[in-house]
Amino acid sequence: MNYTSQGDAIPNVVACTPCHAGTADFNINGAQDEIEALLVELEELLLAEGVLNPATGLWRTGTYATDVAGAALNWIYIEEDRSKGVHNYEYAKALLTNSIESLK
Ligand code: HEC
Repeated sequence: MNYTSQGDAIPNVVACTPCHAGTADFNINGAQDEIEALLVELEELLLAEGVLNPATGLWRTGTYATDVAGAALNWIYIEEDRSKGVHNYEYAKALLTNSIESLK
């Protein structure tokens, strides 16, 4: 989704500008910032639950409550999608928000 121009990685927004006029990146209306903040918040809750190993960022083998395991799966699903909500902003936001609520 990026191309290189004089050593800089430039987001290729040609496919976006017909609808999102004037955008220079994929962070439309701050959607990626918002999803990234939710990912960080949920990651902190998962670290507190002991699901993630703070030293490695990898899963800790164990037995967890269903809500905790579900929240962990939702986190890794959106994290590894790597679009930070561009592929389905409303769904990503709902999954992360609901997961955060379930752990609080
Ligand atoms: C055919 C029109 C169209 C194209 C092309 C398009 N989008 Fe969108 N996009 C929309 C509409 C409509 C919404 C929903 C806006 C709303 O709900 O207010 C949206 C929403 C979004 C959102 C969620 C943020 C928000 O304000 O709802 C993101 C992020 C986004 N688009 C990114 C992109 C990116 C990146 C591209 C190019 C790769 C792209 N879009 C191409 C029409 C388009």
